[in-house]
Amino acid sequence: MSPPRVDLATLPTPLTRMHRLEAALQTGPLYVKRDDLTGFGVAGNKARPLEYLMGAAIESGADVLVAAGSPSSNFCAAAALAAATVGLDCDLLFPGTPPEPASMNVELARAAGARLLFGVVKTREQLDDAVLDHANALRAAGRRPYPLPRGGATPVGAIGYVYAARELTEQCDHAGVQVATVVVATGSGGTQAGLVAGQVGFGLRWQLVGASVSRPTQPLADQILRKSQDCAAILALDPPGNGNVDLRDCRGAGFGLATRDDHVSGRLALRHEGLLLDDYYGAKAMTLFRSLLADGASTPAVFWHTGGVAAALTALTQGAS
Ligand SMILES: Cc1ncc(COP(=O)(O)O)c(C=O)c1O
Repeated sequence: MSPPRVDLATLPTPLTRMHRLEAALQTGPLYVKRDDLTGFGVAGNKARPLEYLMGAAIESGADVLVAAGSPSSNFCAAAALAAATVGLDCDLLFPGTPPEPASMNVELARAAGARLLFGVVKTREQLDDAVLDHANALRAAGRRPYPLPRGGATPVGAIGYVYAARELTEQCDHAGVQVATVVVATGSGGTQAGLVAGQVGFGLRWQLVGASVSRPTQPLADQILRKSQDCAAILALDPPGNGNVDLRDCRGAGFGLATRDDHVSGRLALRHEGLLLDDYYGAKAMTLFRSLLADGASTPAVFWHTGGVAAALTALTQGAS
């Protein structure tokens, strides 16, 4: 039985050769998987999980989505838009006070009709518990909440990337490309958990490497493994094991703080391939991509572009990048 799903994304997203980046980096064939082009708001990689999360929310009879993140959160904006399009209310929890200057993602969520609750907690790390507390308060008031952890990183949300893994392989088979290495930006880990479950479940042989941009790698790798196993169980696929999660520490100076190398990555992607990368996710993942290639990673290699358009444009217009 296939899990409930609503249509949000425009799929498949393109897989495109990066000839000019290849020449600049002097490598074998490089490709980009354009999940910045999933076509739902500016949700990027969050469109795929939200299809299954919204499907599950509706099936559970929910009337309000509860989500949380930092003010830069692409996921919060995407969740607010998704909730609006399926007729759910949406409460979003943010730490601290409203950002100054305004964040494009916060304003997008507001425009989508979400209720924005600032200052519920002090730090990002406290948000997942706060979501559960808020959901309990809503339940006590007679509402039917569907609570989500940061990034929507649940086994149900990960299903979107199980099928994305298969999508990439089908595109490569069609183009006669035998992908060796795939790099993706990892925040909450939902995207990587889905890709891992898809890789193992469908017997795909590329090496998947996640760039951890915000959380320490060991506890996050453990969570990714558990979520990928739970996701595989939902789909009755073979479960991933310990060796299937390859996660590298790419936090550098901190979440959203680009290093000199990350700035180079952003500029290379923009000027050679017309790709817009943000400082939170895309630029850090591109830095990992470049460093793996410099260390001899096998090609053809795929850079999985996860979006982040709102943050990238904000940084450009505010002169941060
Ligand atoms: C642009 C972008 N890339 C990558 C990620 C990381 O995805 P995940 O949280 O599923 O690890 C996010 C998460 O919000 C994101 O917004």
